[in-house]
Amino acid sequence: MNSAIFRATFVFFLMTINLSIFSADADEVNGKRLAKKYCSECHQDDGNSKDDSIPKIAGFSAALTYDILDQFKSGYRDAKEIKNKDGQMTNMVKISKSLKEDEIEALSFYFSKQTFKPAVQASNESLVETGKQLHLDLCNDCHVDLATNSDDDAPILAGQWKAYLTEQFDHFSNRTRKMTRRMKRKFRKLDDNDKQALIEFYVSSVKE
Ligand code: HEC
Ligand code: HEC
Repeated sequence: MNSAIFRATFVFFLMTINLSIFSADADEVNGKRLAKKYCSECHQDDGNSKDDSIPKIAGFSAALTYDILDQFKSGYRDAKEIKNKDGQMTNMVKISKSLKEDEIEALSFYFSKQTFKPAVQASNESLVETGKQLHLDLCNDCHVDLATNSDDDAPILAGQWKAYLTEQFDHFSNRTRKMTRRMKRKFRKLDDNDKQALIEFYVSSVKE
């Protein structure tokens, strides 16, 4: 390669790297600002909500959070009413609809960079082992590594708040929340005892 062209290409290459690092930083700073403004009052600054009726969302993959907010926005997923800090009723559908596309992207990116901190909760130990086996047989394909991370774009369940998890299991059972087809095929196999055992396993937050 002609050395002038090589140099020009190389300089351009360096500029591109710098730009992409800069834009990731900028996204994170922007995401943090938006999170503080619109989400922290319920989900906390880092997405580890302290209220057991509000899900922890720290460490969910960016693609997953983006997808969930889109599900709320489009009406695919319904959301319960909850009081905001001004004492007014709101819900995740309204909140998602108020966000612009680039804000949803920055928020999804920001929360994906936060660390999920499992909630310390009581669990019925006699059901934990059964729940773990069910999880490995039916759910671990997507809720990978015993549901401790979101690497395959499914929510973290290990250490999620029990009250929230119980609500979502009820929604899936009563068909008030839709499931992807592949999850539905597995979820259909569960009876009420299996569901309870899975919940106990998730809140026991077994690592290993
Ligand atoms: C006023 C309280 C409140 C605020 C503010 C709020 N949320 Fe939520 N969020 C909730 C509640 C409650 C749920 C559970 C909704 C349900 O399933 O009915 C939820 C659910 C979610 C979920 C789904 C989690 C899961 O495990 O499926 C995501 C993602 C989320 N919120 C992101 C956000 C983001 C991003 C913001 C800021 C733009 C935000 N929330 C602001 C209360 C709030
Ligand atoms: C094909 C992949 C897949 C399989 C298999 C699967 N899930 Fe899911 N699950 C998902 C995805 C993706 C979501 C979130 C997005 C959505 O609701 O579409 C989800 C959401 C959930 C939620 C709601 C969590 C929250 O934060 O709101 C629960 C609870 C859940 N799954 C439990 C299970 C259980 C129990 C099994 C096994 C019986 C299972 N899933 C199998 C992909 C899967």
